[in-house]
Amino acid sequence: MAAQLIKGTEIREEILEEITAEVQGIKEKHGVVPGLVTILVGENPASLSYVSLKIKTAERVGFKEVQDNQPADIPAEDLLALIDKYNNDNTIDGILVQLPLPDHVDEKKVLNAIDPDKDVDGFHPVNVGRLMIGGKEVKFPPCTPAGIQEMIVRAGVPTEGAEVVVVGRSNIVGKPIANMMLQKGPGANSTVTVVHTRTRDMAAHCKRADILIVAAGVPDLVKPEWIKPGACVIDVGVNRVGEKISAKTGKKVAILKGDVDFEAAKEIAGYITPVPGGVGPMTITMLMRNTLQSCKFKLGIA
Ligand code: GUN
Repeated sequence: MAAQLIKGTEIREEILEEITAEVQGIKEKHGVVPGLVTILVGENPASLSYVSLKIKTAERVGFKEVQDNQPADIPAEDLLALIDKYNNDNTIDGILVQLPLPDHVDEKKVLNAIDPDKDVDGFHPVNVGRLMIGGKEVKFPPCTPAGIQEMIVRAGVPTEGAEVVVVGRSNIVGKPIANMMLQKGPGANSTVTVVHTRTRDMAAHCKRADILIVAAGVPDLVKPEWIKPGACVIDVGVNRVGEKISAKTGKKVAILKGDVDFEAAKEIAGYITPVPGGVGPMTITMLMRNTLQSCKFKLGIA
C-alpha cells in the first residue's frame, strides 16, 4: 500500500485528551465547566445512537451534559420555548438539536431559534456568514468540515497554494469545507474547485487535485484513475451497502462503504482516510471543541 492512512480514530483520541486537559484547567482556574445540551425529538434509532455517543463523549471530556429527550409529537412552540430556556441558561454553552426533526416541525425555524453564540453545530445563518468572512470572525466552524481540515493539518499535508477539489456541494460539508480551504491562514490558502452532479467532466477536475475531498454520498464514485499520484484523499462518504453479522457481538451491523474505491485508491494516493474510522469520528470531536470554545468565549479567554 502506497498511501499513509489518516485515522480519525487516532486523531480523535489526541484531541479529546487536549480538550479534557483544558476543561480541567478551566475548572480549576474559573470554577466553571462547559455545558452542552442535546435535544432529541422522537426515537429515530440512528439519532438515538448518534446522541448517546455525543453524550458519552461530552461526559468523557468533563462537560456538564444535559440530555433533553422530547416526544415525537412535541408542539413546535414548545420546542422553540425549550430552546429559549437553554439560550438563557448561563451554564449551557452549546445547544444541539439532533436532526432530522419530525415533519410537523420546521427545521429551519428551530435552527434559527438557537442563540448563534451557543450554536456549536455551526448551522445558524449567522455562523454560516461568519465562516464566509473567515479569520477571527469564525466562532463555530461546522463539525464535519472542521474535522476534515484538522485531519489534513495533523497529517502534515501542505495546503498553501494546493489544488483542492471538493466533490459535492451540500450545506453541511461541501460548501463550508470549500470556503474554509480558500480562506487566508494556516491549514488553508488553497485554490479550491467544487464539482457536483452538473459538472461536465468530474474526473478531469479530480485528476488535478493535490487534496481531494469527496462528500457525494455515492459509493465508489471516485475511481482510482481520477486520483493524482501522491494526492491526499479525504472520503466523507458513509454509505450503507448491506448488512453482516459482527464477529465481535454476533449482532447484525451495516456494511459501510465510502465514496472512493478505497482498495484501488490507496495504491495511488499519498494519504487516504478509511471508511469507517476516518472522517466519521472527527465530527463529534469537533462538537466537543466548539462547546469548549463557546465556554472560553463566555469567560473572555478565547
Ligand atoms: N444529524 C446528523 N448529523 C448531525 C449533526 O452533525 N448535527 C445535528 N444537529 N444533527 C445531525
